[in-house]
Amino acid sequence: MPKLNLQQSSFSQPQISSPASYASPQTFEVGSLSLVEQRHMLEKKYARFFQEKPEYRQLVTYVPNKKLPVYNWFKYKEGFSRQLVFKILLDWKVSKDEIILDPFAGCGTTLLACKESGYRAVGLDILPVAVFVAKVKLQDWPDLTLLQNAIDSLLDKKYKPPTLSFPKVAIIDKAFSKKVQDEILFYKECITEFEKPVQDFLMLGLISILEQVSYTSKDGQFLRLVDRNIPPVKKTLKKQLSEMLDDLYQQQQVLFKGGKAKVEILQGDATLADLPKKYWGKIGAVITSPPYLNRYDYSRTYSLELCTLFVDQFSDLRNIRHSLLRSHIESREHSGKEISLPALDEILKNLKIKDLNNDRIPIMIKGYFEDMNLVIKQLVNYLRPGGLIALVVANARFEGELVPTDLILSELAEFHGLRTESIWITRYKGNSSQQMGRYGRIPVRESIVFWRKPD
Ligand SMILES: C[S@@+](CC[C@H](N)C(=O)[O-])C[C@H]1O[C@@H](n2cnc3c(N)ncnc32)[C@H](O)[C@@H]1O
Repeated sequence: MPKLNLQQSSFSQPQISSPASYASPQTFEVGSLSLVEQRHMLEKKYARFFQEKPEYRQLVTYVPNKKLPVYNWFKYKEGFSRQLVFKILLDWKVSKDEIILDPFAGCGTTLLACKESGYRAVGLDILPVAVFVAKVKLQDWPDLTLLQNAIDSLLDKKYKPPTLSFPKVAIIDKAFSKKVQDEILFYKECITEFEKPVQDFLMLGLISILEQVSYTSKDGQFLRLVDRNIPPVKKTLKKQLSEMLDDLYQQQQVLFKGGKAKVEILQGDATLADLPKKYWGKIGAVITSPPYLNRYDYSRTYSLELCTLFVDQFSDLRNIRHSLLRSHIESREHSGKEISLPALDEILKNLKIKDLNNDRIPIMIKGYFEDMNLVIKQLVNYLRPGGLIALVVANARFEGELVPTDLILSELAEFHGLRTESIWITRYKGNSSQQMGRYGRIPVRESIVFWRKPD
């Protein structure tokens, strides 16, 4: 593929100056040459699209889902809320005839919200645990007594030492006592004896309690080790499965009144054309949120779940890590995907002369935009003319160097023929106290960018 080069792009006249994230006195000057010049130009180019939307502050997070039946079956902190999907569909007047796509579907918030409100939808995710969770949540359960009987029968089983074992991955022995490991494996073994999809329902119950029965806490970039009292596995599993079943009884009366819209989740890579060709040119709206450029590594955060159900050895875990969008610090360089944009080049050039706490940061930043360039290119192919993309993203800051992810992605989107319609600023996130001490307070935007494919 030829190297994408936006060095020649022309900038439209600014309408509003000094956007919030650049209003700080902390600009870095060398003589008369501003080291943030290209990003200033981007801010000016896109200033007319900015809209402050503080009412979306919480909706771009998982928090509102925590109390929602079905949506809360598996804690996925990286998710956004069901209400966000409803509001975007409503505010942008997306017709019920459209097919909705989420290429970074996670645990299925967009898909579930579409199913609930009667939109046909399709989702893609590369992380097997996310695809599994979304699939179980989207399953129809015509016979709940079947599930009730399966739960009772599972919990009646008499413990016996399991024949299965965990893959040899260091985190397992740190996360679980030997007794807890054996109990998890015992239940896993019992559950595999049930027929699908009942088996999947029970297995989701099991992987949903792993954090609770471990000495770990999902905490941003890593799994943090914590010292705590571990509740009994059987009791925790019973509580989880009963709550899931209660949700289904409630769901039949309250949720999914929208009818039987066809919704599917597939495992695949959003940077490749992994969505079936039948969707080519058919997607009316994309509602999604890619991994943020924040160094978080999903294969570490969800390593307990992956090791319990989806990987056999450490190398499988590593392969998953390197299949993910390059938003994490172990990202590798890929040749043949290079892009060149003035603002991105400026960031990478400035970082070269900084004392970085991890010298892989530039590789990650470069890789992130190279991968997102491929994603946007694919989305354009799948979108119908006039189709809309709503993308939730956050800007980032490394050693005082601001990365306006929303605007760099908008540059890529425009390069691929999309039109920027609006950029909703949902909140400003503060920088870490360490960075604050060194560079002052420079909040970074979390925004929803809206692009449209011209008719
Ligand atoms: C911010 S999360 C999306 C969460 C989702 N909106 C929800 O509410 O559950 C980003 C997702 O992108 C997925 N992902 C990372 N790299 C990917 C890739 N190359 N292709 C598809 N999905 C990918 C991650 O597994 C993660 O589930």
